Amino acid sequence: MLDDIEKILFDEKTLSRAIKNLGARISKDYKNKNLLMVSILKGSIVFMSDLMRSITVHCVIDFMCASSYDGGRKTKGVIKIIKDLDVSVSNHDLLIVEDILDSGLTLDSIMKLLGNRKPKSVKICALIDKPDKRQVDIKPDYKCLEIPDEFIVGYGFDYQERYRNLPFIGVLKQSVYDRS
Ligand code: IMP
Ligand code: MG
Repeated sequence: MLDDIEKILFDEKTLSRAIKNLGARISKDYKNKNLLMVSILKGSIVFMSDLMRSITVHCVIDFMCASSYDGGRKTKGVIKIIKDLDVSVSNHDLLIVEDILDSGLTLDSIMKLLGNRKPKSVKICALIDKPDKRQVDIKPDYKCLEIPDEFIVGYGFDYQERYRNLPFIGVLKQSVYDRS
């Protein structure tokens, strides 16, 4: 697996430092709130597990799995819920924990869906912001790192469901795409 990596963009130390800083900020902002962290599966699980351990105030966690409709019959950005929340969002200050904000279509739909359920507040936290290809007017309230339009793997990010278990974020060699 390591042979497939062209370069490392963010090593374990850089990720750990950035996430600890973010956790400290969130802990301060949510001191007197009722924090519910919602991780969007699957890409954000590694980020979620590190972020939640750097938060020093009470919080509840839950998971949601959504996928985009394809096949052209539905408008792009309409999502199908594969796994919904177990916890009710009302009375909670919702923090949506996502791996990456790219076009923004997925998160825009999730925000609308969860916003309709009347949480006390709702904010977005993204590990990576990739603003170059944004298609909707959406920005993360919290973010760790920003990258140009480049395809990344590792630390939860996959290419064809692989590489999520790499402890760093990197870029694949062209030969990997050529052979698939
Ligand atoms: P979007 O913001 O709706 O375009 O989609 C974001 C989703 O696309 C993320 O949750 C990822 O699953 C996936 N994604 C976007 N960019 C990358 C990348 O560079 N590597 C791996 N997955 C990505
Ligand atoms: Mg994802």
